[in-house]
Amino acid sequence: MKRTWNWKAPAVICSGLGLVVLGCSTGGANAESPAPESMKMMAQSRVNVTNLYNDTCGKCHGVNGQGGGGGTKSLNTKDKFDQKWDRPFFDVIKKGVPDFGMEAYGETMSDEVIWAMVVHIRELQAKALRAEFGGPQAENGVYKGTRADYRIETVVDSGLKTPWAIDWLPDGKMLVTNRPGTLSVVVGGKVVGSVTGIPKVIELGQGGLMEVAAHPNYKDNGWLYLSYTEPGKENSGAGFTKVVRGKLRWNGNNAQWHSQETIWEVAQDNYTGSGVHFGCRLVFDKGYLYFGTGERGNGNRAQDLTRPNGKIHRVFDDGRIPTDNPFVNTDGALKSVWSYGHRNPQGLVMDANGGLWDTEHGPRGGDEVNLIKKGANYGWPNFAWSINYNDSPLNVPWDPSGKISQPAFRWLPSIGACGLDLARGAAFPAWNGDLLAGGLSGANLDRIRMKDGKFVEREELIFGMGRVRDVSVAPDGTVYVALNQPDKIIRLVPAN
Ligand code: HEC
Repeated sequence: MKRTWNWKAPAVICSGLGLVVLGCSTGGANAESPAPESMKMMAQSRVNVTNLYNDTCGKCHGVNGQGGGGGTKSLNTKDKFDQKWDRPFFDVIKKGVPDFGMEAYGETMSDEVIWAMVVHIRELQAKALRAEFGGPQAENGVYKGTRADYRIETVVDSGLKTPWAIDWLPDGKMLVTNRPGTLSVVVGGKVVGSVTGIPKVIELGQGGLMEVAAHPNYKDNGWLYLSYTEPGKENSGAGFTKVVRGKLRWNGNNAQWHSQETIWEVAQDNYTGSGVHFGCRLVFDKGYLYFGTGERGNGNRAQDLTRPNGKIHRVFDDGRIPTDNPFVNTDGALKSVWSYGHRNPQGLVMDANGGLWDTEHGPRGGDEVNLIKKGANYGWPNFAWSINYNDSPLNVPWDPSGKISQPAFRWLPSIGACGLDLARGAAFPAWNGDLLAGGLSGANLDRIRMKDGKFVEREELIFGMGRVRDVSVAPDGTVYVALNQPDKIIRLVPAN
């Protein structure tokens, strides 16, 4: 994404963490001459994180983090890879280890550059640990997990094209969205039919047909919900996320979509040709519908309450706006906004205690698991756990004012978080209540345990089988995973 370096209030940088930052004046920006900190940030955007680490730190810590020089130990241990070391690492780099010859880099590096050093170390660690330990491996088809043993079965291996989401109807039929715009009907592991007459989508980069979700009372009301990228009315090459519901008229294994109602759509001036960051999972709870929209590559709009980008929204399941939404009385604000400052939430789920969780993409490093709170700001693009794709520093994760909601867990490096569900049902009682989160570029499925909103443990269940697009727990508790490259659906079943 494109961004400029002068968006951040100087006060934020200068007071940053209460630590010494070179070039900061407490008087704030002066209109006549460029503020020294914005000059520093322009210089910072030219920093190459890898080169800086190699030149400055490599002689002691090794260019791969292996240690050995200047009395250093390896950084590449499972313990040091844990997120609990983020802040201690940052502080050590800032303050140095004078007794061992490591200087205080806070005197020559900005906080953003120091955080970028931590991100770089995380990338080195991940590479080294993957080379040493690999991913989960089966023995005689059985994966020995830390809390439950499982097998992986292929469910569907043909007939799908970039499958994006999975849901089930009460009669056991499985519905799968294909991103280019078709909705497949799957029975017994085979694509046996499709739903025709669904809205026309535009497959714009990461956008297209996204979520499918049956209403919790589907048996009684027959409502099926879809989220998708709708082509613009004035400019058909542009698009924006839209949510609709409709009903199915069956004819054998094929169904006709009818009685469509719009649940949520935005004004045409929001439609854009950007091919990134669309959201959009649907979550039902107590008559409400929650869903996320990505910022479409326009980070500043994630902070703008008048824009639909980069938000979690909450409406009634028929699309009406609840009067207790946090910004219904804020002038100009979009009334459906429930929380803001999101980059691209592609995972959303409600836990058994009514906690709403999202997973979302950072740029390079710093994908997040957030507990979503009413009216809260999740910080993007002003605070992030990542660096830029081009290896230059971005910003620091911590907000000195304490107003920004922090993730309960962050993936560093990024996994390309996509797809999230809650372990429940009979198949894996030992996982009950845990988050099951997928990764596109990480090609992983992680089980993450939270307690009272806090991270407890992470276990990688799948690695390297394809890009994980959706995770969906079936009514029997087995865990379905939609993959792409190759396009297929697999599932985790208990080993015994
Ligand atoms: C002159 C050698 C030297 C240089 C140069 C150096 N360090 Fe260190 N660093 C050390 C020593 C010695 C320690 C403490 C022993 C250890 O943890 O291995 C340390 C500790 C650390 C730690 C804490 C490690 C832990 O296990 O808790 C981090 C993180 C770190 N350094 C990062 C950096 C970064 C980033 C740079 C470059 C900007 C850098 N260091 C430059 C010598 C060096």
